[in-house]
Amino acid sequence: MTIRICFVCLGNICRSPTAEGVMTDLVNRAGLSDEIEISSAGTSAWHVGEKADSRSREAAERRGIELTSRASQFRQKHFPEFEYILAMDMDNLKALSSLAPNNGERAKVKLLRDFDPDSPPGSRVPDPYYGGPTGFEDVLDLCTKACEQLLAHIRREHGI
Ligand code: 4NP
Repeated sequence: MTIRICFVCLGNICRSPTAEGVMTDLVNRAGLSDEIEISSAGTSAWHVGEKADSRSREAAERRGIELTSRASQFRQKHFPEFEYILAMDMDNLKALSSLAPNNGERAKVKLLRDFDPDSPPGSRVPDPYYGGPTGFEDVLDLCTKACEQLLAHIRREHGI
């Protein structure tokens, strides 16, 4: 069985493409790319079709990670396609929860940083879009910490 993950933020051009790139790198390095499939989406349709923000791409590139996503909007029909739907903040978690067609699908939605035991419950990956360059480095750091723990969780949970 393939385990499918979707990272979700607002625009799908900064945070969730970064989480997708970081997790893809971790999964590839663990030799698990046949077992785990990774994608990302936005709760808004504002940037559909766009590459990740150039600031996100450049920051990731400096860590040897290529961001290859094209923005898409997360729709109700997408819920059954994933086992894990990981929101970057509470606003996106709430948007996904109200979009979910039933409680079974709703239960797939979690906050990404809740997988990081060093983050207080409810922690968000802050939106870097309107801020300075350090915001993009912070997103990479936070996504890396959380995705390492997410991968450990999935490996335990699914025995891989
Ligand atoms: P993201 O960041 O949700 O991490 O992709 C944003 C991108 C664009 C906008 C807001 C946040 N925007 O307002 O267009």
